[in-house]
Amino acid sequence: MKKLKGLGAGLLSVWLSGFLLIALSFYGTQLLSPSSLDDRSLFARVSISPRITIFTALNGSSSLEEENTKALLCIRSWLALSSQVTVVLFTQHISSSSFTDKFGSRLLLDSTIDFTFLGTPFVHSMLARSEAYVSDIAVLMDPETVLLPDFVSALNYAHDVDRDWLLVSSSVEIPRFPFHWDEKGHFWRQENRRRVRFGELQKMISMRSWKSNSSERKMILAWNNMDVPLHCGVVPPFLYQRGTYNQWIVNEAMSCKQRFVFDATSTISSFCLSNAENKYNRSDNVLEPQTRNWEYIGNSRLGQLYGSLFFNDNKSSTLPKLLKCNKRYIFVSASDRSNDSSIPKGNTGLNVGFRTREKISACISRSKSRSLKIDFVQNDQALPLLKFPFDLESLLPLVADKNRTVVLSIAGYSYKDMLMSWVCRLRRLAVSNFLVCALDDETYQFSILQGLPVFVDPYAPKNISFNDCHFGSKCFQKVTKVKSRTVLKILKLGYNVLLSDVDVYWFRNPLPLLHSFGPSVLAAQSDEYNTTAPINRPRRLNSGFYFARSDEPTIAAMEKVVKHAATSDLSEQPSFYDTLCGEGGIHRLRDDRCVEPETNLTVQFLNRDLFPNGAYGDLWLKKDVRAECEKKHCFVLHNNWISGRLKKLERQMMKGLWEYDASMRMCVLR
Ligand SMILES: *[C@@H]1O[C@H](CO)[C@@H](O)[C@H](O)[C@H]1NC(C)=O
Ligand SMILES: *[C@@H]1O[C@H](CO)[C@@H](O)[C@H](O)[C@H]1NC(C)=O
Ligand SMILES: *[C@@H]1O[C@H](CO)[C@@H](O)[C@H](O)[C@H]1NC(C)=O
Ligand SMILES: *[C@@H]1O[C@H](CO)[C@@H](O)[C@H](O)[C@H]1NC(C)=O
Ligand SMILES: *[C@@H]1O[C@H](CO)[C@@H](O)[C@H](O)[C@H]1NC(C)=O
Ligand SMILES: *[C@@H]1O[C@H](CO)[C@@H](O)[C@H](O)[C@H]1NC(C)=O
Ligand SMILES: *[C@@H]1O[C@H](CO)[C@@H](O)[C@H](O)[C@H]1NC(C)=O
Ligand SMILES: *[C@@H]1O[C@H](CO)[C@@H](O)[C@H](O)[C@H]1NC(C)=O
Ligand SMILES: *[C@@H]1O[C@H](CO)[C@@H](O)[C@H](O)[C@H]1NC(C)=O
Repeated sequence: MKKLKGLGAGLLSVWLSGFLLIALSFYGTQLLSPSSLDDRSLFARVSISPRITIFTALNGSSSLEEENTKALLCIRSWLALSSQVTVVLFTQHISSSSFTDKFGSRLLLDSTIDFTFLGTPFVHSMLARSEAYVSDIAVLMDPETVLLPDFVSALNYAHDVDRDWLLVSSSVEIPRFPFHWDEKGHFWRQENRRRVRFGELQKMISMRSWKSNSSERKMILAWNNMDVPLHCGVVPPFLYQRGTYNQWIVNEAMSCKQRFVFDATSTISSFCLSNAENKYNRSDNVLEPQTRNWEYIGNSRLGQLYGSLFFNDNKSSTLPKLLKCNKRYIFVSASDRSNDSSIPKGNTGLNVGFRTREKISACISRSKSRSLKIDFVQNDQALPLLKFPFDLESLLPLVADKNRTVVLSIAGYSYKDMLMSWVCRLRRLAVSNFLVCALDDETYQFSILQGLPVFVDPYAPKNISFNDCHFGSKCFQKVTKVKSRTVLKILKLGYNVLLSDVDVYWFRNPLPLLHSFGPSVLAAQSDEYNTTAPINRPRRLNSGFYFARSDEPTIAAMEKVVKHAATSDLSEQPSFYDTLCGEGGIHRLRDDRCVEPETNLTVQFLNRDLFPNGAYGDLWLKKDVRAECEKKHCFVLHNNWISGRLKKLERQMMKGLWEYDASMRMCVLR
């Protein structure tokens, strides 16, 4: 940010440029297209034009070009506003270079943020990632928003202010936008090809804004000095474009008092194209809008849980009272203005209202002494459980890969951080076909808010404490039996399952290798620690990492395992071995297999160099575990053979095989 020496001089220069703008845009509104109102051509700027970086994202489930035409149109119009503008577009699909060629070098695609399993981007991830970009002003906004040139001029003014600020501006929703973007001329055209004037667009907005009544107000947030935090809080995993977070950020920024927060809605003309027609109404039916409701509810839940300020749950909740800067020209027709007291009296007819414009800098200095009234936390309301419109049956087709395979993990609340670390690792490896089975309601709710495809285990014992559910405990025995039953259920629904405990760290995606064993083979990790002993010795089958195919022999064999476990006093691990390899290992074949004679299912014990357990080769004792494992070309490393949850957590964190930042509530940035 450019610091102005001496407030007086600073203000004067802003005043002067402001006056120029008023004068020029007054005439300009009648004749200018957005591109010609660009500061470059009209004004000799007093200060250097700030770099403006707009951060926005596309719903990842749709590909770049299809279904995002409106958004892409808007992005084009942003880029045309000024050469100061750069757009960072977060998307899951980095498509062909032809896409970016069309937009030029000021559109950057970034796919490093986190998305939910439905492809909705996370706001906290976007904000964290935005810090990696160098810019004078950062802007966070929805992609389907049309900006007019006063956006750039307002930010240019704000840039001259010698203070850290956060600017808020609401967008007006327009059901139909009858104009076309002229790529060559950089202006909007009407259907009859006539060029649309800036003033006409502004008027459209002004007339709407007084009637605007939308609860999920679309907003533009812009802030300078990106080195200073936006607010003092930690952003919870809000979903982008699903409400609440704009208000939340504003509230937090106001309570933090590090930035001057102001509402520039009347200075910046913007409108969003409302989605009258429904994008999610696809034949596969899974993405219908009503199934999206929980995303909005989840966001408002997060706002209440983690906000330092009280959130009004009412649909009508609006922004906290902000200082409003700047009245701009008000165009209004007689019929529309009857009830708005902010419109100057004595004007009749069309396009008549006009008020002087207050400079942002003047507004800010006027407000310096003004204290903002803030409502404080009321966090004691009990929140009803969040309803998630998916169950196991509906999740499977959504997450399974093209081989109809899912990666299943089962977790209770005390392992939630480890679950997240596991999930973050899979996201990083671009393994998206995972599923989480929650053992309790807390894990279920937590996982929903983290955007995970989660279902509640119908078999989970409801009355046990999972807090110290480690190997050998009664709890552990019960929980492991839940695992095989759930796997069996999924196999019967026609999907292959790679079961992976959350304490299995993935170095590489093992699925292609596991698939290569072919049908009628169940591949499982060996728990043998003795480096010279055969890996299929009795009870050395680790039931925390195995790949089961949805074929007849496997299903039949898993039925037997589940039956055996149900009558056993032990955990399910011995049931696996005793059922599939026979007691004492009588069905062993060679040093690394068993064949269950009734079903002909082959159990393949996985090579321990590639799939080491926690005791093999003392890997966990090595100074650089990752390097050691990479040398061996490990696919995974199991963090087992250690007693106690905290020790387990500690070991994994200390060795740098940890991918979740619990304090930031998000995956460690790449
Ligand atoms: C993304 O999804 C939200 C909510 O369904 C919708 O309002 C928005 O228009 C979508 N945006 C894009 C670019 O598809
Ligand atoms: C605003 O919304 C409320 C509740 O949905 C509705 O009753 C009211 O008529 C709306 N007002 C306008 C001006 O649309
Ligand atoms: C969804 O699509 C079906 C036909 O495919 C149509 O009958 C229905 O009206 C659509 N619903 C919405 C909300 O557009
Ligand atoms: C929500 O609005 C209703 C009616 O307007 C009011 O009675 C209720 O107290 C409001 N709830 C909250 C949490 O403000
Ligand atoms: C204007 O306000 C009056 C009372 O405040 C109300 O009765 C009337 O319905 C309003 N008119 C419109 C068009 O909203
Ligand atoms: C837990 O519930 C099961 C049946 O649901 C019951 O058999 C068992 O005794 C209960 N255990 C405890 C510790 O309450
Ligand atoms: C899917 O199955 C094919 C054929 O068995 C295999 O080559 C491929 O690696 C599998 N893909 C994954 C991701 O497992
Ligand atoms: C490992 O196994 C070999 C042969 O199976 C045996 O001789 C040796 O004692 C075992 N070592 C340990 C530490 O158990
Ligand atoms: C298992 O294999 C044996 C010999 O290959 C065969 O006779 C038997 O019918 C098979 N059993 C099943 C259940 O397929």
